[in-house]
Parts: sequence; structure tokens; C-alpha cells
Amino acid sequence: MCGIIGYVGPEQAQNFILDGLATLEYRGYDSTGLVVINDDGAKLVRSVGRVSSVRDELAGKPLIGKLGIGHTRWATHGAPLERNAHPHTDSDKQFYVVHNGIVENFQDIKTMLEAQSVTFKSDTDTEVIPQLLAYNYKKLGDVKEAFLKTIRSLKGAYSVVMVTPLSPDTMYAARLSSPLVIGIGDKENFIASDPTPIMEHTKKVIFLNDYEAAVITAESCEIIHIKKGKLAKRIPEELEYDPEQALLGDHPNFMIKEVYEAPQTVRSALLGRLRVEQKLIKLGGLELVEEQLRYIDRIIIVSCGTSFYASLVGEYLIEEIAGIPVEVQQASEFKYRVEPLNRSTMVIAVSQSGETADTLAALEKVAGYGVLRLGVVNAVGSSIARLTDAGVYCHAGSEQSVASTKAFIAQVTVLALIALYLSDGNTPLYEEMINELDKLPAKIEAILKLEPAIKKLAKKYSHHRDFLYIGRRYMYPVALEGALKLKELSYIHAEGYAGGEMKHGPLAMIDENFPTMALALDGELFEKTMSNIQEIKARGGPVIAICNDPAKLKDLADDVIKIPKTIEQLQPLLAAIPLQLFAYHCALALGRNVDRPRNLAKSVTVE
Ligand code: F6R
Repeated sequence: MCGIIGYVGPEQAQNFILDGLATLEYRGYDSTGLVVINDDGAKLVRSVGRVSSVRDELAGKPLIGKLGIGHTRWATHGAPLERNAHPHTDSDKQFYVVHNGIVENFQDIKTMLEAQSVTFKSDTDTEVIPQLLAYNYKKLGDVKEAFLKTIRSLKGAYSVVMVTPLSPDTMYAARLSSPLVIGIGDKENFIASDPTPIMEHTKKVIFLNDYEAAVITAESCEIIHIKKGKLAKRIPEELEYDPEQALLGDHPNFMIKEVYEAPQTVRSALLGRLRVEQKLIKLGGLELVEEQLRYIDRIIIVSCGTSFYASLVGEYLIEEIAGIPVEVQQASEFKYRVEPLNRSTMVIAVSQSGETADTLAALEKVAGYGVLRLGVVNAVGSSIARLTDAGVYCHAGSEQSVASTKAFIAQVTVLALIALYLSDGNTPLYEEMINELDKLPAKIEAILKLEPAIKKLAKKYSHHRDFLYIGRRYMYPVALEGALKLKELSYIHAEGYAGGEMKHGPLAMIDENFPTMALALDGELFEKTMSNIQEIKARGGPVIAICNDPAKLKDLADDVIKIPKTIEQLQPLLAAIPLQLFAYHCALALGRNVDRPRNLAKSVTVE
């Protein structure tokens, strides 16, 4: 949610800011803005729409200045209008602020400032920050002190970066529950919501922690603990980076690029961890907490959206393979729920971005209980990765398309490894699963070859307004995920159901205009899924079946997608791929923007 970027150094700030904003656009894309500071003051440009529209506006008349900040917005308070776009400034146009998060006490601050005759121009919560800063500056006469005092007054979640012509060579930044990373360059420094835009300039970074502020010039970076008011000693860390990851290559958009990365995603998640010859699972991240893991008798997995559905697959896997009771909770519910927790409970947070506000809050909630907190996270160095006691990285590489695809594949792969690791080899499925995991990338490659056929199906079905996805056991979470992909990408209404629930209500919706995607792979419950399909057909509902053996569905399913066989426990990793491709092609057939679906943002850093 909202992308923040900033530069100070010898180069023109605008170039880095515009390129960086384009990289961060996945975080929000309803309006864009930047401000650049030079000896004559500040130059501000804001516009409703994408970064490209600001780039066009500035073509031939660039903003001159070597200090600047920019923002790409996902609206929370106030509609996407120019007046609500960031950077925001105070009435005297002295302080320019970009903000990600929510200022929960903005109304109190606003009321206080309005009583001092301050007039607000936007509908945002953010505008209180520069206005309060101006108010504090009048009293204190020192920019840094005024900034720190202002930040201390804010409640909620924020990452804030501020520049002012009063201090034309310095960026001021602060963070609470919303990410900010500082790039330390050679006589130039950078700041951003995630490391991607920075990494081609420097790999030395400092992730700001909660309650930290930074005062950044081209040559220095001072970190201050906001509450204690003392300097914090932070040593920059080196990040690994593959610049190819951020490029589209020959692909028309990031979504299809990322779907096609699934085989490599599985390989990367397994690399060094799955030792097929030795029949061994090696998870270095968990060895650190091996002793504590022995005493775990209950696992709660917290996550949101697609990560939640990957977690549901993880629940089935860990319970069946490791024999430990698991419950998966939506992080947004878990954090407000009252339930008994004790030291033998382990909480696993599953998150692609590692910045999801609800998942972070869920981890923070259990901080005082002495429970072990694990992370299954993709973004290296992210807040969740740093907040957990131990974890296993997904190694899926950067995922840029708003809809999660390869991250789901990586999360399920890692959860399967965790299940095997926790089983200590005490499951009859141990060897078979190890062997099958190793074969998955080749099987996914075979499924990707079905894209032209799936595209045809998408064309045939994309005019429908509703869709049902059904599956049983391991296919149930996949049905939920398939329905989510379809609705978020194509805006077709889709619902996922466990096959066994059909008679308890959903069957009432079925008619010739309400197709069903049935996950009818071979396995223990195949016959039961067949009964569901019979019941749907008897009511005139069209059926597409994802299956291993089309002959078994002859005269029943209207269309079939045949995928390779694997053991039931790993079927989600194969079945998810045709569903991603189907949603993708339905969206394209309907002219949707697949990488940037309306109303959504990639990293949900507000509640
Ligand atoms: C859907 C999607 C979202 C995310 C959810 C959690 O395609 O991408 O549902 O899965 O917002 O995000 P992370 O995994 O970053 O915590």
C-alpha cells in the first residue's frame, strides 16, 4: 500500500524517483507525486493516475534538484484526486511529506490545528503531518527536533519521509509498522518502501525498525530511536539481488512471467533443502530452534488472502505428515480473537511480502506469550522475517504482479518441507513425498504447455458473471484460491466451496449460467467429487474439470483440463497452475489490467 521513494546525492533526484516509483507501483497506483528541493525552494508535481502520466508531464521540463521524494498512492482517506495525492505540504509550503500507513489520531490533531486557524486542503490523514510539523517548527525553530516531536505525536502505522527547503540537503524519515529501507551509496543515499528500486544503485541497506527515525544526507545517515531520543547504532547489511528478476523479458506482463516461473520457484524452494539421495530434509532456519520444536503440540498459522489458502494446504500437510494439530486463522481475525495460548503453541506467519499489517499484528499479539514464532516469508529482510524467531524463506524472487501466483507455489512447497521436517521421518509418506517433490518442476512445465488450450476455454467461459470452484481435501484450499484468482483478476464473481458442502446451500445457485470448475483429480475422494459433478450436471450447470484421466469424466464434464499425476498431498502445486492460467486468460479476454487489478495493491501495510 503506497510506495515511498527518496534520493539525496550528486545526481538529479527526479530520475531515480520516477524510475523507483515505477518499480513500486505495485504497492498502489491511483495517484503519483514528487517534490524536488533546490536553492530556489521546492517544486511539487502531483497527478491522478500512474507514474507514466507524471513522467509525460515532466518530459522536456524536468524538476531540477538533488534532493527529492516521491509517492505512489493507494487511497485510504480521501478519493484519488490531485489534492489527496502525496507529497502533502503545510499552509506555508515549507515541509513536504510522503506517508504510507494510517494516522489513527489524525482527527484529534486536525481539530487541535484548526483551533489554531490552520486550514486543511486535502481529505487525507497524512496532511496533519506537515501541518503539525510547521506548527512545531514555529515553536522549536529546529527542523530535526520539530520532525521528531511530530512523529512522537502520531498514532497508528506509518512510514514517513519529509524534505524541506529549510534544510535543502537532508531527508528525514521515520517508521512504525510500515516498511522503509535506506540504501547507503557512495556519496549518495536512497530510501524506499522496499529494496527493489535501490538495489541497482547499492546493495548496502539499513531496514528501519519500528520507532526509528533517520536523518539522511548524501554523506551520512543518522538513526535515532524515536522514543528514547538517542542515536541507534545500525550497521548496513548486504542484500543479494538478481536484477533480471525485476525485468519483464519477453513476457507481456508480470503475471504471466511469474506463472511461468513456477518450475524454477519449486526448484529454488527445494534447493539445498530436499536431499533426495539421503532422504533428508534440511531446513537451516529451523535448526536454530530445534530444541523448542520438540515441545510443540499445537500450531496456529496466520496469514491473509492467497497466503491464507497456501496455509490451509499447510494445515492438511502438517496434520497428516507430522501429526501435529494445526489451525489456520485469517490474521485480521486472529489479532482480535481471545483464545488460550501457551508455550507449547507455535505460530507460523505465512506472507509473500513480509509486510502485511494484519499478519504482523498477529505476530505482535503473541509476543508476550513465549510462543515460538516462525516465518514462511518471501521478501528477504522484511518486517515479518525480522520479527519471527526463526523461519524458512520461500526464495521465489520478487513477485511484482498484484495477484500472487508463484508465491503460492513457493509457500506450499515450503510448508510441505516443514511438514516433512517436523515428521522426523515418522510418516509412511516420507520417502514418496521426497521423490515426488523432486519431480514436480518437470510436471509443472508440462502443465504450462496447456496454456493455448486453457486460453480457448477462458474465451468460451469469460462471459459468465458467476463461477463456482469445488474441491475436496487438498483440493479444497485450491478451489478457494482458484476462485480468488478469478475474481481479483477478471472481476467475475467466483466462490470456492468444499465439494461436500454443495448440498448444504450452494447447489441452489446452479443453472445453465453458473459454471463450475471442479477439481476432480485421482485420489481417495475422486468418486465423491464425481457425485458432486453429477448433481451439478443434473441441474444444467456447465462443468470444467481439472483431472488426471479425462476418460473417467466422459459424457459428464463439458470441458476437461488434464494434468499429470502426483500424490494427493502435492496435487495443490500442480492444480493451482491451470487455475492461474484460466483466471489470467479470462481477465485478458475481458480487457482487464492483469498486473494492476482495480482497487488492489500488492503489499497491504494498513489494516
Ligand atoms: C491475492 C494476493 C493477496 C495476498 C495477501 C497477503 O492474489 O496476492 O491475497 O496473498 O494480501 O499478502 P502477503 O502474502 O504479502 O502477506
